[in-house]
Amino acid sequence: MTVVDDIKGRLDIVDLVSQYGPLQKAGASFKGVCPFHSEKTPSFFVFPNRQTWRCFGACAQGGDAFSFYMRKENVDFSRALRDLAEMTGVELPTRRAARKDDSLYKINEAAAQFYSRYLASGDGAAAREYAAGRGLTQAIIDKFQIGLSPGDGYSLKRRLLSLGYAEGQLALAGVLAQSSEGEYKDLFRRRLMFPIWDPQGMMAGFGGRAMDDSNPKYLNSRQGPVFDKSRILFAFHLAKDAIKESGAAVVVEGYMDAIIAHGHGFTNVVASMGTALTEHQTGLLQERAKEVALALDSDAAGQEATLRSLEASWKVMQRRVVSRSRGATLYERPAGPTLKIVRLPPGRDPDEIILEDPARWGKLTKEAAPLLEFLFDALSAKYDVSSPQGKAQVAETLFPLVAAAPDHFEQDRHFRNLAQLLGVSEAILEASVGRPQSQRSRARAPRPASAAAAPFQRMERDPLEEHCLALLLQNPRLKPLSMDLRPEQFQRVENREVFTNWAQGRTMESLDEGVRERHAYLTEKPLPPADLKEKEGALSHCIHRLEERRLRQLKVEEGLRLSEMGPEEVSEHEAEILKINRDMEALFRSRSV
Ligand code: UTP
Ligand code: MN
Repeated sequence: MTVVDDIKGRLDIVDLVSQYGPLQKAGASFKGVCPFHSEKTPSFFVFPNRQTWRCFGACAQGGDAFSFYMRKENVDFSRALRDLAEMTGVELPTRRAARKDDSLYKINEAAAQFYSRYLASGDGAAAREYAAGRGLTQAIIDKFQIGLSPGDGYSLKRRLLSLGYAEGQLALAGVLAQSSEGEYKDLFRRRLMFPIWDPQGMMAGFGGRAMDDSNPKYLNSRQGPVFDKSRILFAFHLAKDAIKESGAAVVVEGYMDAIIAHGHGFTNVVASMGTALTEHQTGLLQERAKEVALALDSDAAGQEATLRSLEASWKVMQRRVVSRSRGATLYERPAGPTLKIVRLPPGRDPDEIILEDPARWGKLTKEAAPLLEFLFDALSAKYDVSSPQGKAQVAETLFPLVAAAPDHFEQDRHFRNLAQLLGVSEAILEASVGRPQSQRSRARAPRPASAAAAPFQRMERDPLEEHCLALLLQNPRLKPLSMDLRPEQFQRVENREVFTNWAQGRTMESLDEGVRERHAYLTEKPLPPADLKEKEGALSHCIHRLEERRLRQLKVEEGLRLSEMGPEEVSEHEAEILKINRDMEALFRSRSV
C-alpha cells in the first residue's frame, strides 16, 4: 500500500471538508456552500462513498481529499502529503531511507576531507590566518570540518576521479560546474569551505566564502538531488537536540554567525542562509520549538521587504492544520511556535557580537520581542502613532497577523495587545479594523455522522493511468499526443503529480518521495514491444478511456446530486446535464471512427 493510500484510508473526506465549513446531509451525500468561490445556494457536494468532492457551481471542479486540501490551503502536493500524513498519524518514509544510492553524500564527504587537508597544508597558511582573524579556532574548524578549496580548478576533480567516481556523479553532487566549453571543472576555487549538512545529518553540499572582496561573497553547491537550499537550515543537525530540549530556536542569517554561536556554546542556533524562511525550514523548527527567535539587523527592521518576509514566516508558522483527526477523533491542534525578534544593534552581525561579548548575545536573545511588539515599534518609527491616521495605518498593517493566529484565544490576546500598543480601547480598534473572525468556530462545526467509518474502496493500482504514464515517460516522441491530457483525468493523486511534473518538464530530483517512487516505477514498468505507430495508437486509446471515465464519474456524481432535487430544480440544471451527455456522445463517436 502506498503512503497516499494509507493516508486516504484513515482520512474521511467529509471530516476534512467540514473543518472548513458546515455540511448538510443530502441523501447519501453532503452539501454546503462552496469553499472555493462565494455563493449563497450550496452547490458544493461531498460523496462519502466515493470519497470525492465536486463543485457544481462556478468552479466546476472536483477531486479527492488531496486535491481539496491542496486547493483549500493553497499548498503543493508535497506539503499536502506532509500535513495529511501528520493529521492521520501516517509516517512518511524519509528522504534518506528512500534513497538507495548514498554516493552523492560520500562524494561531499570525500571533498570535505580533501578541503580540510588542503587548509592544513602549506598552501593554507593565508587562509588559516583569515580564519583565525574571523574567530574560527581549531576546535571550531574541526567541529564544522572547515576547509579550503585549491585555486587551480582541477585538483578536487582529479582527486575524486582517482577515488573511482564518475564525472557525471560529481556534477550531480554539486561540486563541479560545466565551463562554457562543456568541460567540468571544480566549482569552488580558493574559498574557505563550510560543509552543509541536511536535517538528517548527511553532508549535502558546501558554502564557499571568498577571502577577499571578490563576488559572489559566498558560492554554494549547485542545486541537485542532495543539495536543496530551501530544505536545509544550516547547523540544524547540530542544533536540533538543543532546540528540542530548550523549546527555543534562534535563527541567524549567515554561516559565520551560526558557526561562531555554536563555538561559544549557543547550540540552539541555525542559519537561514540569507533568504526568507521557506515552509520546509519552518517545518523543521515547528516540530521542536515553542519559540523561534529571528535575529534581525536593525537597519532592515522597518523596511518593506523585511515586513513582508516576517509576515510570510508568521503566516507559515500559524497556518498549520487547525485540528487533526485520528480515526474518528478530532483534536485541537496546539498553536504554532511564538515568533520573536532579536533586535541587533545597527550594523552588527551576530558573529561580531558573540566574539566581542558572548554574554551580550545571551541577553539579546533572551530579550527577543514578540513579533507584534517588534513590528509595532518598527512601524511607529514610520508612522506617527499619536495621530488617528497613523494609528489606523499601523492597525491595518498588523491586523492580518492578528487574524492569522490559530485560535480565538490567541487572536483575542493579540487583539488586546494591539489595542494596548496603539493606546486605544478594543472597541475603537474594532470599529476601525473589525474583529478577527474566529477560525475555531469553523473548526467546531458539527461533524456528520458518517465520520466514524470511511467506507471507500482502496485501489492501490490504476492500470489505465499507469499504462498511459508509462507510455509517455518511456517514449519522449509521444509527447505531442499528450496535448489533450489534463491533470484532472488522473484520479490517483500520485499519478496526477507525476503527470503534472512531466508536463512541466521538471526533473525527477525535484519530486517528493512518494511521487519519485511512482515515477521510477513507471519509467521502468515493462511495456509490450511495439513500434511508434502502435504506441501512438495505444496512447490515444488510453487518453480516450481516461476522458470517458472522467465523464462517467461526473455523471454518477451529477445523478447523486439530482436524486435530492425537486423537478423544477432539475430542469434548472438541464443545460449542465445535457452538456455532459453531449461530451460523452462526442467521445463515443470519435472512438468508433
Ligand atoms: P551575509 O552577507 O550576511 O554573510 O550573508 P555572513 O554570513 O555574515 O558572512 P561574513 O560574516 O560576511 O563572512 C548571509 C548568508 O547569505 C548567504 C550565505 O548563506 C550567508 O551566510 N549568502 C550571502 C550567499 O549564499 N551568497 C552570497 O553571495 C551572500
Ligand atoms: Mn557576517
